[in-house]
Amino acid sequence: MTETNTRVLLKSRPEALPTSDNFELDRRPVAELGDGEILVRNVYLSVDPYMRGRMNEVKSYIPPFVVNEPLEGGVVGQVMASRNDGFSEGDWVSGMLRWENYSVSDGVGLTKVDPGIAPLSYHLGILGMPGMTAYVGLVGVGEVQEGEHVFVTAASGAVGSVVGQIACNLGCRVVGTAGSDEKVAFLTQELGFDAAFNYKTVDSPIAAVRRACPEGIDVHFENVGGGLFEAAILNMRPNGRIALCGMIADYNTPFEELPPGPRGLFVLIGRSVKMQGFIVFQHPELCKEWVVRAAGWLREGKLVYRESVAEGLEAAPRAFLGLMKGENFGKQIVKLADE
Ligand SMILES: NC(=O)c1ccc[n+]([C@@H]2O[C@H](COP(=O)([O-])OP(=O)(O)OC[C@H]3O[C@@H](n4cnc5c(N)ncnc54)[C@H](OP(=O)(O)O)[C@@H]3O)[C@@H](O)[C@H]2O)c1
Repeated sequence: MTETNTRVLLKSRPEALPTSDNFELDRRPVAELGDGEILVRNVYLSVDPYMRGRMNEVKSYIPPFVVNEPLEGGVVGQVMASRNDGFSEGDWVSGMLRWENYSVSDGVGLTKVDPGIAPLSYHLGILGMPGMTAYVGLVGVGEVQEGEHVFVTAASGAVGSVVGQIACNLGCRVVGTAGSDEKVAFLTQELGFDAAFNYKTVDSPIAAVRRACPEGIDVHFENVGGGLFEAAILNMRPNGRIALCGMIADYNTPFEELPPGPRGLFVLIGRSVKMQGFIVFQHPELCKEWVVRAAGWLREGKLVYRESVAEGLEAAPRAFLGLMKGENFGKQIVKLADE
């Protein structure tokens, strides 16, 4: 193949907030296919907060990115050529691939996706990892029950917006936070949240959560950390559950510089509150269950899905950096090519 492959490399590891200097573009010919391999034309690429952790040289549940090698993330693409019996030219696939226009893969970890179920990019969001995360955290870890009081932070984002809608569909009272008035209006007017507030403009997070959740919280879904997390802790009801999904407010601060906290953990003792962290792919059965349930709810018009779409591979680092500042509104993806 004579096409040029553009790739996004990790040029250096950030000390704190990443900048565009941590990324580099490179161009090279598309590699030749070996036996058992397929060539994928990458069409949609996912940018996600967990990728910030992979920029650090630390041992974690997923290995760090390698300096001077392409980053890797969720991709939807089309098979252009195949020397693998499991895939045919024209198949649409989803899975973890490198940040590049064309990937050569042995197919391991790639799943075929049916373009008839929903728009292809949905497999990176509501039908993919973020949607599964919402379901695993709320239903599996949070053990949510009909009629309970649910609170979720970063509620207009890829995970949070699904958490809130699942809870609404299950008949819960749902409250969320977001970083702009426009996002807050989206939560209450389009997603069906009972209440929401802009955490950037409230007097105190504790008072704001008390006002929005006057009867307390049964299930708290934590995406952010910091003051909002403390406010949720103080407002937990007896026998409540806290699903620790993410702490994006802490991802760009070196550990030694993080403020102490959260305060008020003693409250959880007297109220018998259970708190549990989780990683979505450690719950494969719930992930499968979500895809079936979500496809049904999408068909019935019971889920609203919003994306921020950046255009072109060159825009991927900028889109990723934007996540850390709340510049995305809904699931952030990058469109690399026309379908
Ligand atoms: N445990 C798992 O398996 C798993 C899987 C996927 C994601 N996660 C976690 O889930 C969380 C949400 O991920 P997502 O993909 O849905 O991202 P997202 O919510 O679509 O995007 C990130 C959002 O976080 C908010 N944010 C960024 N910096 C912040 C800060 N310093 N303080 C408060 N809010 C901040 C911004 O929204 P505002 O404008 O509202 O501030 C931003 O839009 C992340 O913490 C992520 O690491 C965990």
